[in-house]
Amino acid sequence: MLNFLKKNSDNQEKTERCFDSSKPVADHIAVIMDGNGRWAQKRMLPRIAGHKEGMNNVKVITKHASKLGVKVLTLYAFSTENWKRPTDEVNFLMKLPVDFFDVFVPELIEENVRVNVMGYKEFLPAHTQKAVENAMEQTKENTGLILNFALNYGSRAEILTAVNDIVALAKSGDLPDEVDEKTFSSHLMTASLGEALQDPDLLIRTSGEERISNFLLWQIAYSELFFTDKYWPDFTTTDLEEAIGSYQLRNRRFGGLKDTTEGDA
Ligand code: IPE
Ligand code: IPE
Ligand code: MG
Repeated sequence: MLNFLKKNSDNQEKTERCFDSSKPVADHIAVIMDGNGRWAQKRMLPRIAGHKEGMNNVKVITKHASKLGVKVLTLYAFSTENWKRPTDEVNFLMKLPVDFFDVFVPELIEENVRVNVMGYKEFLPAHTQKAVENAMEQTKENTGLILNFALNYGSRAEILTAVNDIVALAKSGDLPDEVDEKTFSSHLMTASLGEALQDPDLLIRTSGEERISNFLLWQIAYSELFFTDKYWPDFTTTDLEEAIGSYQLRNRRFGGLKDTTEGDA
């Protein structure tokens, strides 16, 4: 393409994707925060330096999401498959919530943010469990953004747990004849805060990978997807606005014909 034409089309794409404060933001944004390791390797640093930088970025992005009026921010922090990593890296990742909440909880309280953690918490080390419980307890009265961490979370395991819970209820005679979507959803980890954690409107994955990696398989049935090449520690508040800007241009039809984002559904 001729250079001046390319420049124009790049600019156009940029303008089109701009965040529009007059349009609704995505109420629930889920993020697969990927690329911490590669961010560090690119700088000849150990992988754990990338995780630390990634943790700092959680703070920045949370504050900005809150400012933009996002209601729920669900962050994939550790998957049920991440235990396969070297012990040193896993140990570091299990210590991160302790450091993060130690420093950040007072700021979260100031921002009226409520912390929730979903995942198989019972398998986390005691110090991680304690940090998580404290953060949830200390922020439970807050009414602003819900900062929902998926920690030791895996969607297939979550679905199987729900199925087994339902089977147990059926055995005890405590279940209606038919399980519908609502009943099934109520057995998933996203039901932990009642209606507050509705399905994500927008799912962002950083680092250039375009896969779901066992995250919220049931819940993202109709989420809008946004992939970026940026590594998570490099993902800025402007990138968040760009993702939301892209979301604002989508036509959400849920299998019907009307664009439900126009507010006339
Ligand atoms: C994401 O970054 C954080 C976790 C999975 C805990 P990675 O550690 O997966 O970084 P890359 O993908 O190896 O660069
Ligand atoms: C997904 O990233 C999990 C988190 C971001 C916590 P991974 O790095 O584990 O995913 P894969 O292995 O590239 O699919
Ligand atoms: Mg990764």
